[in-house]
Amino acid sequence: MSKNNDLINAYAAKRPLSTNWFKRARAVLGGGVGHDLRHFEPMPLYIERGVGGRKWDVDGNEYIDFLGGNGALLLGHAPPEIVAAITETVGRGTHFGNDHPLHIEWAELVQQLIPSAERVRFVNSGTEATLLAIRLARAFTGRNKVLRFEGHFHGWHDDVVHGFHPPFDADGSLGVPPHVRDQMVAIPDGDLDLVEDVLSREDDIAAAILEPSGASWGRVPLDPAFLRGLRELTTRHKVPLIFDEVVTGFRFSPGGAQQLYGVVPDLSSLAKIIAGGMPGGAVVGKAKILSLFDITGDGHHDRHKRVVHFGTFNASPLSAAAGIALLRRVATGEPIEQANAVAQQLHAAWNLVLERQGIAGYVYGPSSTLHVYFETDEDRVRNASTRDDLHTTDASRLKGMPAELILEYQRQLRYRGVDIMSSTGGVVSAAHTKLDVEQTTAVFEQTVTALIDQRLVLTMR
Ligand SMILES: Cc1ncc(COP(=O)(O)O)c(C=O)c1O
Repeated sequence: MSKNNDLINAYAAKRPLSTNWFKRARAVLGGGVGHDLRHFEPMPLYIERGVGGRKWDVDGNEYIDFLGGNGALLLGHAPPEIVAAITETVGRGTHFGNDHPLHIEWAELVQQLIPSAERVRFVNSGTEATLLAIRLARAFTGRNKVLRFEGHFHGWHDDVVHGFHPPFDADGSLGVPPHVRDQMVAIPDGDLDLVEDVLSREDDIAAAILEPSGASWGRVPLDPAFLRGLRELTTRHKVPLIFDEVVTGFRFSPGGAQQLYGVVPDLSSLAKIIAGGMPGGAVVGKAKILSLFDITGDGHHDRHKRVVHFGTFNASPLSAAAGIALLRRVATGEPIEQANAVAQQLHAAWNLVLERQGIAGYVYGPSSTLHVYFETDEDRVRNASTRDDLHTTDASRLKGMPAELILEYQRQLRYRGVDIMSSTGGVVSAAHTKLDVEQTTAVFEQTVTALIDQRLVLTMR
């Protein structure tokens, strides 16, 4: 029996209740899980509770958690002030379908924190936020096409579902009519000449959208100079610039990546941290663009000259209560500093592990993100004198590590009690501790040793 099968059996043996839940899940859930990234071999995690930087599954296995609610939990699990805010609110009713004071307070905090937020409109997820931002930009310009960048993720609606996973020219999903794809112009990021070329050639571009961190919350690093150049080019060509700050908003700085890098877009999509661990998102941006939502009483205008937006649960009281409590903490700057500091410790400790083991790879990531790149191209490893020579900004490489390597890496980490977000990476919260760093680093070392044993990674020697 291979080492890999040994691990799978040992993993399952520690999860008898999870095994049973998985059996039930397969009989009832489409695809067996509620989100593609939750799929896992031999079974998904079934989590019962979380506190701070840790969570426990139904079998009592403990995990140091760098999934953090898919990046939504800047303060970790069940922070007392968020629990108190939700508890205090829930007794007055969970949902009215009317506006309410917490909605306005929540919007005011977003407006104060995010530089581009002259106006705010809440939605329920990041996917809804990018969908609505693109609709606003199309309505504002009267144009149709959207310039996007290969590897950047903007949720799962039809317009954006292609182009984030290599090979970037292949369809991202079945079920999307070809004419939808024709409306997207996808190019590699980082090349301002290419952007200039597209914007000069195409006269039907309604918006340019990107993750200001670089694709997948910094997995593919992006020079902030590109953001400044893109701002300049889009302004010159009168193309609204959309920052997708679903991950970076309230994480990279209280005002998101736009504040950190000093580049203000026309529109931004926000979600995750904004709602304090509850469902929520927002489109924010220029007042003159968001005025497309205005209802004026003029029948012709209101029927024909507006952007329509409904949504039963938009700005629900519980999301607003949690969001307000969270954003008040974010405004102090303290949780972001704390999470960044822990991430830096992890980067340093994990890079030392790779150095010690001679592994062809490196650990990196902006702000409180954590990414690991394992170089599996033998030519690149042979030609590299040091691990620094392996650094790359090639999205196909950084997002194209072999699937069996990723799966085994995640399984080794989980088996030893560490959960991450996607691929090799995760996000750090303000609740993670020095002990979490030490224990996680020990687990990382055991994980990469197993990967060497299984010849899934290359060494420099
Ligand atoms: C940058 C970015 N945009 C949009 C989304 C979609 O957000 P949601 O999962 O809330 O629909 C995500 C989700 O991870 C994201 O990372």
